Amino acid sequence: MEIVIEQDADAVARTVADIVEKAVRSGPTTLGLATGSTPLGSYNELIRRHREEGLSFAQARAFLLDEYVGLPAAHPESYHSVIRRDFVGQVDLDPAAVRGPNGEAADIAAEARAYDAAIGAAGGVDVQFLGIGTDGHVGFNEPMSSLASRTRVKTLTEQTRIDNARFFDDVAQVPHHVLTQGLGTISEARHLILIGLGAGKAAAIAAAVEGPLAAMCPASVLQLHPHVTVVVDEAAASGLSHADYYRYAIANKPAWQSF
Ligand code: PGA
Repeated sequence: MEIVIEQDADAVARTVADIVEKAVRSGPTTLGLATGSTPLGSYNELIRRHREEGLSFAQARAFLLDEYVGLPAAHPESYHSVIRRDFVGQVDLDPAAVRGPNGEAADIAAEARAYDAAIGAAGGVDVQFLGIGTDGHVGFNEPMSSLASRTRVKTLTEQTRIDNARFFDDVAQVPHHVLTQGLGTISEARHLILIGLGAGKAAAIAAAVEGPLAAMCPASVLQLHPHVTVVVDEAAASGLSHADYYRYAIANKPAWQSF
């Protein structure tokens, strides 16, 4: 795990975009896209590079992390709609090459299995965006999720529903259930980028990076992964006890080693 502490959200977005741009320019790339507020700056920077610098996503494909169960795909807050609005619809990524879990499937268990199989058939995810919940979730793997879990239905905690109520008229409209890639599924992506912004994420980032490996903090499963880049602003880094060491390691990164 490498920890990159940037001064602010704009610098975080540039660092994340640099990683994604390098992958996309190297050839056909499968991206793992996340919704929520955290990746928006990075998406906007990639959109800018697409418009101003010719960065093309025409050869890329993408899988989403999760979806609400029972919310129609056409609902403005379905993750299907959100990712089109926030990213896919603003670059030259073929919408047909972007897949998310189908939260309206009649047989949700079969859809979950099919989703994992589709990621495998595509050769796996090359670069996976991840935000983190205030309770340490990644995707919608709430605390006590199996660290080996596959795509499946999860029940959202009340805290997550409250956190996401800002996207709906009120908290009662936030669905209780989601279909989410499991922690085992996510862990199969070749490069994980965990982004944390703001003081509200400081405790979760500290638990994920420095806390024990524990299902109580689902993001701690990233400690087992061979290639994770955690990109945080100063506020989200404020709970880290070894921040000075992380800065030192990045400042002295060997020239041959890149993110
Ligand atoms: P946020 O959500 O990016 O909107 O803060 C992150 C998450 O819940 O995983």
